[in-house]
Amino acid sequence: MFKRLKPTNENPVEFDFEGRTLTAQAGDTVAAALLGADVTAFRSTPVNDRPRGPFCMMGVCFDCLMVIDGMPNTQACQVTVTPGMKVARQKGAAVIGPDNSPDNNPGDGAAS
Ligand code: FES
Repeated sequence: MFKRLKPTNENPVEFDFEGRTLTAQAGDTVAAALLGADVTAFRSTPVNDRPRGPFCMMGVCFDCLMVIDGMPNTQACQVTVTPGMKVARQKGAAVIGPDNSPDNNPGDGAAS
């Protein structure tokens, strides 16, 4: 669906997306890297479990919320991919606060 304007193999960065190893280019945001890998559903809505994906790519719409390195409600379009980063879709609403355990955030990529 999405294609890089200038594809290059320089500075590849490997990261984990729900158990799959994907490769991004250094400097890619998580959203750009996933769209480049044909991943378009980043989260599901809390009420109807409908898929949502990035829309604005500039931190405004919040449709790119994901669980990144165990942290829910992270805007994938605002975070740069780092080697070994763990990324997972966010399912519904995440719990925010001290009880931010995997049991309360099923989309965090932990064992399910
Ligand atoms: S794509 Fe809109 S906030 Fe990330």
